[in-house]
Amino acid sequence: MTAQITVLAGDYIGPEIMAAGLKVLAAVSEGQNFDYQLHEMPFGGAGIDQAGDPLPAEALQTAQKSDAILLAAIGGPKWDGAPKTPEQGLLAIRKALNLFANIRPTEISPAMQKYSPIKNTEPVDFVIVRELTSGIYFGQPRETTSEYALDTMRYTNQEIERITRVAFDMAMKRRKHVTLVDKANVLDTSKLWRKIVAQIATEYPAVTYDTSYVDAASMKIIASPSQFDVILTENLFGDILSDEAAQITGSLGTIPSMSRGSNGPSLYEPIHGSAPDIAGQGIANPISMVKSVAMMLTHSFDRADLAKQISDAVDATVESGVVTPDLGGNATTDEMTSAIINHIKESRHSYEPDHV
Ligand code: NAD
Ligand code: IPM
Ligand code: MN
Repeated sequence: MTAQITVLAGDYIGPEIMAAGLKVLAAVSEGQNFDYQLHEMPFGGAGIDQAGDPLPAEALQTAQKSDAILLAAIGGPKWDGAPKTPEQGLLAIRKALNLFANIRPTEISPAMQKYSPIKNTEPVDFVIVRELTSGIYFGQPRETTSEYALDTMRYTNQEIERITRVAFDMAMKRRKHVTLVDKANVLDTSKLWRKIVAQIATEYPAVTYDTSYVDAASMKIIASPSQFDVILTENLFGDILSDEAAQITGSLGTIPSMSRGSNGPSLYEPIHGSAPDIAGQGIANPISMVKSVAMMLTHSFDRADLAKQISDAVDATVESGVVTPDLGGNATTDEMTSAIINHIKESRHSYEPDHV
């Protein structure tokens, strides 16, 4: 069966890193019995420019019919003040596909250790499970008048239950610990999260869990990141904490993500944005996109073997110092991508039985 993949390259560095991700996908799939077909669609600012909407109907329909979606990044100053912004397109596709669970891993592999701005004595490997289709991003009412503006933070029991199960299921496959991050000393929604999480936790006796207020959690991510296994949190806190967590690997440009619902296609995207400040220079770090491709291979196509080849090649590349300026190097996006592809090819070559 041919895997159908919708490709949303988006804006600014979006197309630059998408090109890198697709090159790595082509290289890792070669001769591996993984056939795929790409469906490139305008989205975000590119959707506005080409089709008059950040989420053109055809892009949404194509995404709905596909097996997985790759998204690079959208937005930027070009569309500031547009009647419908690129960011609204991003929120709309998450909502339309019911992608309520956003998985954002933070891992400092031995190869990445030298790029981390913090001194780690213990391994850092945690995952942020961010609720993605509710909370203050979507709550109603919402309005702006001449006197005030209003956003609403709202969560239902059911929305909290389903994301909590995602977090605890994930913990079962990891080190069996969940930290709920909230602001339960102030917010009613957070108090509800605490109540529901305590109930669901009884279904998972093997998993320990604790809670942390979001202000303290943001400190602990810097001070002692190895204490975390699975961080479970609501939409806005997850947005903020995941950029902070990314930086302890050395760069925001290294972190991929997966967004999934109960069924239907999942979406894979870097956690960062379109980086207008470096767009067009060919120096964007491709790791976030390349690792998003690896996550897609594991979770949508059951090809963890290919994903492992990608992550080994990324480690070998950063180990060798071929890195973009965000990690302190002087490689271009293309040079780094070629180095990753070469490592994939080399590792295969050395396994060929007739190669002596
Ligand atoms: P950003 O994440 O685009 O950039 C923040 C900083 O990180 C910048 O200095 C940028 O150069 C750097 N950076 C990000 N990715 C990098 C990479 N791969 N390699 C090297 N450096 C990288 O955040 P911002 O500047 O606040 O936002 C820019 C636009 O992106 C805004 O329109 C925002 O709404 C949008 N945005 C989109 C997404 C998305 O598509 N999922 C996510 C976040 C922000
Ligand atoms: C992200 C981004 C988006 C979010 C924006 C662009 C709407 O920051 O994917 O982290 O806040 O979810
Ligand atoms: Mn964000």
